[in-house]
Amino acid sequence: MSTPSAYLTSLFSLTGKVAVVIGGTGELCGAMAEGLAGAGAEVVLVGRNEEKAKPRLERIHAAGGKGYFLSAEASEKGPLEKLLADVLARSGRVDIVINGAGVNSATPFLEIAEDEFDRIIRINLKGVFLGCQIFGKYLVERGEGGSIINLGSMSGLVPLSRVFTYSASKAAVHNLSKNLAREWAPKRVRVNTIVPGFFPAEQNRKILSPERVASIMGHTPMKRFGEARELVGATLLLAGDGAGSFITGSEIVVDGGYHAMTI
Ligand SMILES: NC(=O)c1ccc[n+]([C@@H]2O[C@H](COP(=O)([O-])OP(=O)(O)OC[C@H]3O[C@@H](n4cnc5c(N)ncnc54)[C@H](O)[C@@H]3O)[C@@H](O)[C@H]2O)c1
Repeated sequence: MSTPSAYLTSLFSLTGKVAVVIGGTGELCGAMAEGLAGAGAEVVLVGRNEEKAKPRLERIHAAGGKGYFLSAEASEKGPLEKLLADVLARSGRVDIVINGAGVNSATPFLEIAEDEFDRIIRINLKGVFLGCQIFGKYLVERGEGGSIINLGSMSGLVPLSRVFTYSASKAAVHNLSKNLAREWAPKRVRVNTIVPGFFPAEQNRKILSPERVASIMGHTPMKRFGEARELVGATLLLAGDGAGSFITGSEIVVDGGYHAMTI
């Protein structure tokens, strides 16, 4: 009988793995990256602003973890191809990819301008599509398996008022993730979606008016927002090939019960 720590290590250790966290400069994916580093992975925080990555990297390094920042525009093929090449040059491999760059906007439906629609779809959907295509191709061709985790949203499951384009983009992310899970299961590349409920962060703080907060709390059995660190459990479950080895095409909802709320 192994000790509890040896047992947990066999289930959740990411030692020797390299994780590329696109959107890792942000609040949720930054916390997820910190969790991956805590489990032993070398993490690459990807975003457009190195300053935003610095405090997170300082915490990761102070805790004995490994990680660095790389800049990339998540919605364009060229920068993502360069990102993959740069990570391979520096770290030698990629095992885990998180596609989490995302933007949001609350505009009444009849007032949504075409360029706002295009911008949200380009970053939230095309970005995930390209991340899956470029890193998925590498993982499939390498033949050693891997894990792709896409950031969906509650609004991709149940359409939420005021965020029409965002909701449509996230519903498409959920669909794409399942489709790729089916496609790549024989190659041992697992594709899953983490579905956060409500977590105040840069991209949605401006949308959280007092009325909307009251409405969210009234619909959340736990009566509070999530904290970014509460996404780490789902992330570790999906990332490695231990505890989550048979999980693909799944949506793990982390929402304080929002999705289960009826009356
Ligand atoms: N916060 C929530 O309540 C919530 C709920 C459901 C889903 N999500 C999703 O989780 C993910 C992370 O969101 P967050 O709340 O941490 O937001 P955030 O704004 O803190 O993080 C998003 C990060 O993505 C980066 N980014 C945006 N566009 C980019 C681009 N084109 N190229 C490269 N980087 C880009 C931003 O700079 C930022 O660092 C998003 O996909 C979001 O839609 C968040």
